[in-house]
Amino acid sequence: MTVKSNKGVILKAYPKGIPEVDENFELTHRTIDIECLNLKENEFVLRNLYLSIDPYVRVTLHDPALNFMKHGKMISTGQVISGLGVSEVVKTNNPNYKVGDLVYGPIGWEEYSHIKSDDASVFSFMFVNKELLKDTPLSYHASFLRFGGLTSYTSLIDIGKPKEGETIYVSTAAGLTGQLVGQIAKIKGLRVVGSTGSDEKVDFLLNELKFDAAFNYKKLILTRHYPNIVQMVLIFIMITLVEKLLKWLWNIVIDLHVLWLVV
Ligand SMILES: NC(=O)c1ccc[n+]([C@@H]2O[C@H](COP(=O)([O-])OP(=O)(O)OC[C@H]3O[C@@H](n4cnc5c(N)ncnc54)[C@H](OP(=O)(O)O)[C@@H]3O)[C@@H](O)[C@H]2O)c1
Repeated sequence: MTVKSNKGVILKAYPKGIPEVDENFELTHRTIDIECLNLKENEFVLRNLYLSIDPYVRVTLHDPALNFMKHGKMISTGQVISGLGVSEVVKTNNPNYKVGDLVYGPIGWEEYSHIKSDDASVFSFMFVNKELLKDTPLSYHASFLRFGGLTSYTSLIDIGKPKEGETIYVSTAAGLTGQLVGQIAKIKGLRVVGSTGSDEKVDFLLNELKFDAAFNYKKLILTRHYPNIVQMVLIFIMITLVEKLLKWLWNIVIDLHVLWLVV
């Protein structure tokens, strides 16, 4: 039998604020007949294996009438949500991909995705190097070995240019990008402080990822738990004030000097 289940998550209604599962999304039970599917030039069919649920997806769920995003793929109501994931090519009419290839790219939140020739993503899939699978689970290729990892690494190393012994503070530290930034920073010899939204995540940051310090920002009472941070902030404010005062006094001295020269 060539007809296969192709369950998918469609957008039921545009979310206002934080999306609600029942209000905004719907699981649809569809089928796909892969063998009978006629593929146009460059089209292919993917069996989706791992899907990354990333924050950027929220940006794609806006009413197009609001003209919120002028580029990128917007999802209309009734359409399958789009995300990034790892898939196996199961049928192809595209010379770049052969059956059995593992690829990473924009797929639907569904079991199988038919990548159409007029879809901008038709040439944007990247190959998963099967050699790497000896050492790394396939799921890693849908998360930190791709954009999440790249974002964390380049933002910390290329933009942040950290130096050994420095202290870094990471917000959203238990999320994909935050936990990678923290771990890379530890490897580079930094002191890592992270904040997150629950005690379980704080425990994870301290005991699994070995952050030097972590706190739950939802219940933080600075003076009780982190007197050093308060001291740090106060010292910084004081230094700024003293600096401003000195500049002000210096300007007065210069003005008096100029006045004296003129007189
Ligand atoms: N993943 C990427 O490739 C990538 C690339 C570029 C930029 N970014 C950006 O980096 C940031 C973090 O991304 P990520 O991939 O690390 O995210 P993630 O793993 O999905 O983590 C998201 C975290 O955000 C916090 N959060 C705060 N308010 C929230 C809310 N209302 N709903 C859900 N989560 C909430 C939660 O942590 P707490 O409990 O600690 O608050 C949650 O765990 C995002 O702004 C994202 O757009 C990500």
